[in-house]
Amino acid sequence: MKKFLLALAAIGAMHLSVRADAADIANGKLLVERNNCAACHGLSMNHPITPEYPKLAGQHADYAYFAMRSYQVGSNNPLFGRNNPIMIAQMQGLSQRDLHDIAAYLQALPSDLILQK
Ligand code: HEC
Repeated sequence: MKKFLLALAAIGAMHLSVRADAADIANGKLLVERNNCAACHGLSMNHPITPEYPKLAGQHADYAYFAMRSYQVGSNNPLFGRNNPIMIAQMQGLSQRDLHDIAAYLQALPSDLILQK
């Protein structure tokens, strides 16, 4: 439990320090295009090539960042990481800044997903 709390505290601190300045949506777009994320997540990140791949357009930036960070950490941290090998590979080489920029871009995209309150 102590380890778990420490991991959460570390992640929270990283999260806050990076969020101090605003995310760059244009850079997020560039990174998504350069890394060809649409090869799986589909046109405009809104039409995945198979139903096992998530729609990302319109997703909350905080959630998208957290998901991408979880793949980066991967199975090195079983308390936090996600272990999907495809996405672990996709996230290597991206900085925290990059992840925030990508997340902001995803949130800004028009989406078929509907949020009901
Ligand atoms: C080769 C196919 C492929 C490519 C290329 C790819 N992804 Fe993924 N992505 C997946 C799959 C499969 C999942 C679901 C993995 C799982 O089950 O955890 C996923 C999950 C995600 C998630 C989590 C979604 C959620 O709802 O939790 C995000 C965010 C994401 N991808 C972003 C990206 C970004 C950004 C890129 C480009 C840098 C990218 N992906 C490139 C296949 C791909």
